[in-house]
Amino acid sequence: MNHFTYHNPTKLIFGKNQLDALKQEIPKYGKNILLVYGGGSIKRNGLYDQVVKQLKELDVTISELSGVEPNPRLSTVRKGIEICHQENIDFLLAVGGGSVIDCTKAIVAGAAYDGDVWDIINKKVTAEEALPFGTVLTLAATGSEMNPDSVITNWETNEKYVWGSPGVTHPAFSILDPVHTMSVPRDQTIYGMVDMMSHVFEQYFHNVSNTKLQDRMCFSVLQTVIETAPKLLEDLESYEHRETILYSGTIALNGTLQMGYFGDWASHTIEHAVSAVYDIPHAGGLAVLFPNWMRHVVDHDAERMMRVMLAMFDIDTTGKTDKEIALEGVDKLSAFWSSLGAPSRLADYEIGEDRLEEIAEIAAKEMQHGGFSNFRKLNKEDILSILKASL
Ligand code: NZQ
Ligand code: ZN
Repeated sequence: MNHFTYHNPTKLIFGKNQLDALKQEIPKYGKNILLVYGGGSIKRNGLYDQVVKQLKELDVTISELSGVEPNPRLSTVRKGIEICHQENIDFLLAVGGGSVIDCTKAIVAGAAYDGDVWDIINKKVTAEEALPFGTVLTLAATGSEMNPDSVITNWETNEKYVWGSPGVTHPAFSILDPVHTMSVPRDQTIYGMVDMMSHVFEQYFHNVSNTKLQDRMCFSVLQTVIETAPKLLEDLESYEHRETILYSGTIALNGTLQMGYFGDWASHTIEHAVSAVYDIPHAGGLAVLFPNWMRHVVDHDAERMMRVMLAMFDIDTTGKTDKEIALEGVDKLSAFWSSLGAPSRLADYEIGEDRLEEIAEIAAKEMQHGGFSNFRKLNKEDILSILKASL
């Protein structure tokens, strides 16, 4: 293992009827609150009313930023920063999925920074300070509720970057009630499960030795999601399965799995480049790209890839090489995601060959700049070949 320090300051408040915790938590941070949410799902499922009722019982002033887009945009971040300055905001409450939370992280960092928030997002500067914020999560997927990371798109320049500042952009608290995720539609539920599995893969594929416990923890999250996913899709209102998936999503990317190493993260970098050019759902892109990344890099460490496949799927290993078993596992993974209803080709999003060069260029630049693709270093040609195999 590499040496590591682990510190996660986010207070996780998990379970049924935990929204009441807002009344204890919010008064610690101030009186001028900015409520941040998305395109209206929280109004339709009643969560907005419940949150506002809680806030009204406190002596606070509420401002609102609504309409945060899936794949949140820099222009919305800027709007939020302006509200923070105009209304002297002390604390932000993000109510939504990863996009709402990520947008809030950029607002809190941007509001406390003298320059342009884009400097922080493109990692030119590191956020040293931020306004405090909390979250009420409504979609199990990104782990953003308990990590410092944020992904923002600059739609004018087709750039989509992940950035984050540990300890500065971690939420102060996150409230996770499985009931709040019951209304997530089928397609977003599928994407969420593909995303959390992909987060485990990104971490599992590394070159650091002696990570036995971490490997088994990765397997256990993957096995749990694989076992629960079809059951949840049969009954989208099952509290038990929503609960399992919600907790899995948090554990998959709150830093617990990657103590002692940093994972690969090439597939995410390629997906971010695809969705910076074509505004597609993050995990729809991952479902297409990840198996093709695996096929492309299998020779780097077929044994490691074989082990994760054997942890997930029944594969007859008789007379087969590590590579053959690993690749059979990749086919099974792809078939599993398709069986849930995830896309398997870029063509499913009407993406053709015309802008692949541009996407590969963006991804290659970001891999170098952000320190991604650590299992097997990829260059632009590698990325292009993964993209072409994904058409
Ligand atoms: O906008 P509203 O109306 O709220 O609708 C959302 C949105 O349309 C809807 N939704 C959310 N909760 C719902 C619901 N609909 C009904 N009932 C509910 N309870 O679902 C749609 C998608 O929401 P979004 O927040 O975009 O999804 P997700 O949580 O998957 O977030 C995706 C974003 O996170 C980034 C992705 O790149 C993408 O921009 N990521 C962030 C990461 C992080 N911060 O650590 C890591 C990830 O790898 C990922 O890159
Ligand atoms: Zn992801």
